[in-house]
Amino acid sequence: MNWQELRAKLDSTDMLGRVLAFPEQMEAAWKIGAGFAPAAEPLREKKFERVVIAGMGGSAIGGDLAKSFLSDRATPITSCRDYALPKNVARGALFVASSYSGNTGVTLAAYDAARGVVAAMVAVTSGGELAARCARDGVPCCIIPGGMPPRAAIGFSLLPMLHVLRAAGAATFDDSEYDEALGVARERCAEYAPTRDDNAAIKLAKALHGKTAFVYAAPSLLEGVARRWSCQFNENSKTLAHFAFFPELNHNEIVGWEVGDIMKRAVILSLQDRDDHPMTRRHADVGLSLMKPFAGAIERYETPASGRLSRMLATMLLGDFASVYLAYLNGVDPTPVKKIDALKKEMSR
Ligand code: F6R
Repeated sequence: MNWQELRAKLDSTDMLGRVLAFPEQMEAAWKIGAGFAPAAEPLREKKFERVVIAGMGGSAIGGDLAKSFLSDRATPITSCRDYALPKNVARGALFVASSYSGNTGVTLAAYDAARGVVAAMVAVTSGGELAARCARDGVPCCIIPGGMPPRAAIGFSLLPMLHVLRAAGAATFDDSEYDEALGVARERCAEYAPTRDDNAAIKLAKALHGKTAFVYAAPSLLEGVARRWSCQFNENSKTLAHFAFFPELNHNEIVGWEVGDIMKRAVILSLQDRDDHPMTRRHADVGLSLMKPFAGAIERYETPASGRLSRMLATMLLGDFASVYLAYLNGVDPTPVKKIDALKKEMSR
């Protein structure tokens, strides 16, 4: 397969180049977050009961990744992907609005709903109406560089958010975790580059060509990554994908693998991490063995031996690269998301 030829032919804004440049994005995002942290430090006094991260799509996933990474050492984090903010969630909360463009109606509505109800507010955005409202309301706003498809700016959605949460006293983590993750991301980007046709990301894309991905994981470190894989297959590869979690899926979805013809065209991608509960791992083993006779194929991925941030981002990168290679195999440009653009236009009327 001549990947460079496909890249030149199909990839109008070089999505592959953006994924390859993730380590550089991490460095830039980390610096921005560190520079912004002092602005969030006065929020410490509030002693938050919870954190609510409001956002949609690619920007929401930055929050999901933060939640997964910090699940063992942060004030409980809830995500808000709706216009409304339940009052019992809002009270005593640090509200973080995350919108790459700053113009997503749902996130702006959640921002407005949070005003005067939550304990404190902060935002991460490249500008737009969200930055304007923050300036109007005196809400600290971390500005990240614009001009990318939001999903390609995942480093900017995640790393400044980690700084914000730590500075506001809602999370703890060590800078060495970032240093390690940066090294691992560099290794992974070199490994998944199109220089070798037999790398794991290309193999994954080939396994998914003409198929539907069912991404299964545990609701622990890889919860946000499972969603990210699914969304990247949707948006970059323009193909349907689905995600669900063990052990819950063993109590309903597993029975669905019985009647119909979609299953033979479905590939189960099972993501596992060493912090998954041992019984959840057992659920995955048993559940997958019961689904095996019905599924087109099952591919299993175990995170590498490293820290939590490194494991999470290494696994995310495998899906990010695979989604771009799958776009090439599908003969589509990974960047445009015409239906999302049309939807936003219609909804803003
Ligand atoms: C497009 C993408 C979308 C957006 C979503 C919200 O690349 O990833 O999922 O993230 O439509 O828009 P923003 O992030 O600008 O608030």
